[in-house]
Amino acid sequence: MRFSGMRRGDPTYFPRKKVTVVGSGNVGATAAFLTAQKELADVVLIDVVEGVPQGKALDMYEASPIQGYDVAFHGSNHYEDTAGSDLVIITAGIARKPGMSRDDLLSTNVKIVADVVEQIVRYSPDCILLVVTNPLDAMVYTAKRVSGFPRSRVIGMAGVLDSARMRSFIAEALQVSIEDVSAFVLGGHGDSMVPMARYSTVAGIPITEMMSEEQVQGIVERTASGGAEIVRLLKTGSAFYAPGAAVVEMAEAILKDKKRILPCAACLEGEYGVNGYFMGVPCKLGGGGMEGIIELDLTDDERQALQRSLAAVQKLVREVDALEHF
Ligand code: NAI
Ligand code: 2OP
Repeated sequence: MRFSGMRRGDPTYFPRKKVTVVGSGNVGATAAFLTAQKELADVVLIDVVEGVPQGKALDMYEASPIQGYDVAFHGSNHYEDTAGSDLVIITAGIARKPGMSRDDLLSTNVKIVADVVEQIVRYSPDCILLVVTNPLDAMVYTAKRVSGFPRSRVIGMAGVLDSARMRSFIAEALQVSIEDVSAFVLGGHGDSMVPMARYSTVAGIPITEMMSEEQVQGIVERTASGGAEIVRLLKTGSAFYAPGAAVVEMAEAILKDKKRILPCAACLEGEYGVNGYFMGVPCKLGGGGMEGIIELDLTDDERQALQRSLAAVQKLVREVDALEHF
């Protein structure tokens, strides 16, 4: 029997969407695997370490007969292979160890993210950048500055993860299905993030009507230190399953043009009274990337909490701007 037809490389071949994941470590590999499982796109894995992206890409491909996904994988240390990506997920950099805050990573990761973005933009000038590397609000600012992309095409992942943590804690406390719980965490991805109890609901009912104030406060505090809780347990690194799932939820919204409303780190241009800084706010995610921002009416307490979070983000951005690399 002979089978003929179009093949990869043929000029008439119309490939799937292309997602590049830079940094093939814990978060990057998890994100790549979930992207494939959802058949969102072909996946290119990049890393500085030789063999790691190649090995992980081959391993994921070899899982495809079992998982049943039709996706092409390519592992590489060369940015030429990322050319024409629709979406690029940046997880390259170092992660937290016990005793370290996300902010302690800044000076190392800013150079890594700047180098990565320079390369990515050269080969995929029209892509959408989804930044994960910490300290998130400063790294996504770096990515925007280096890429020169409009704010619609540079987005940071944090709020989806922080909100997922809050949703998990609410479902556990009330013993209800996770499917009925929604939650919103705003602000920067640091200790001063702002979990919004008022906008967190179970089947539309605010949790403030279902729990005592102490219970709500406990959940708010556990959410804000959710990343550190995992670091303490793992001892050698930070969370990656929930972060990987969070970034792929955003990727799916973009690649399928779903117009989802998700909390994302977006560059504010006057919204919430903030100009030129990235902060976690409710955004519309679709084919154009970050297509819009919802401005909530905040209470005085919430506004003050957001201001404290903004001050923490501004401090990080000042550190980025002061680095010689720029
Ligand atoms: P990891 O150490 O497992 O992986 C990082 C990978 O980046 C390594 O494979 C490393 O070789 C690679 N890398 C380093 N420099 C590179 C370069 N110049 N080019 C390409 N690859 C490079 O770390 P993990 O756990 O995957 O975390 C990655 C980053 O994501 C960390 O900064 C972490 O703090 C952050 N993170 C952010 C979250 C968020 O909510 N925004 C959630 C979880 C992690
Ligand atoms: C987290 O929240 C480390 O930012 C990462 O788990």
